[in-house]
Amino acid sequence: MGCLNLILTLKFINILETNPGNNKEQIINVINFIRQQYIDNRIGRWAIIDKITNEFIGWTGLKFVTELTNNHQNYYDLGYRLKRKYWGKGIATETALISLEYAFNIIKTEEVFAAASVENMGSNKVLQKIGFKLLETFYYEDIKCNWYRIDKKIMKIRIAESLKTV
Ligand SMILES: CC(C)(COP(=O)(O)OP(=O)(O)OC[C@H]1O[C@@H](n2cnc3c(N)ncnc32)[C@H](O)[C@@H]1OP(=O)(O)O)[C@@H](O)C(=O)NCCC(=O)NCCS
Repeated sequence: MGCLNLILTLKFINILETNPGNNKEQIINVINFIRQQYIDNRIGRWAIIDKITNEFIGWTGLKFVTELTNNHQNYYDLGYRLKRKYWGKGIATETALISLEYAFNIIKTEEVFAAASVENMGSNKVLQKIGFKLLETFYYEDIKCNWYRIDKKIMKIRIAESLKTV
């Protein structure tokens, strides 16, 4: 789920930025873990790449969660994390919407869930902005998280609303 990935990736990025050489094995394990998701579940998070500079901006997208999380299992989770210099440019919103389009139109799932720490203002804002409904809070280990859901019907309404404002 998103929060779990956030923790994993925070560690990953800290490692990457502070001491990459000593933790190569750990980094390879993370890459293999994500690759395995594609093999097992035919989906995993996507890299966001700047088309002009080819720079890695961060990651976004779906994960098929098989572990029991907040009484849910075998569901699609939406998550994202960007390098700090790319925050505040609308990239999380834009890439999250593309991920939802993929979920509903290509994978053809009926619903997508997401979780964000209640303290993470940015992440909660993005989820609410793209139409996720806050259902409840729960604890992931000792972190209080918001639990969100969106379905195809809500997504269609959101797209219709945004077209009206264009
Ligand atoms: C959370 C995160 C993905 C947001 O990415 P972003 O590209 O900056 O988000 P957007 O630019 O699409 O912002 C969408 C909205 O959220 C708001 N927002 C973004 N970060 C915010 C923050 N820290 N506090 C309050 N609002 C915030 C923006 O102002 C914008 O609102 P607006 O449309 O009304 O102007 C990014 O800050 C990040 O990678 N954080 C670290 C990792 C993380 O927390 N991942 C989520 C795991 S659950």
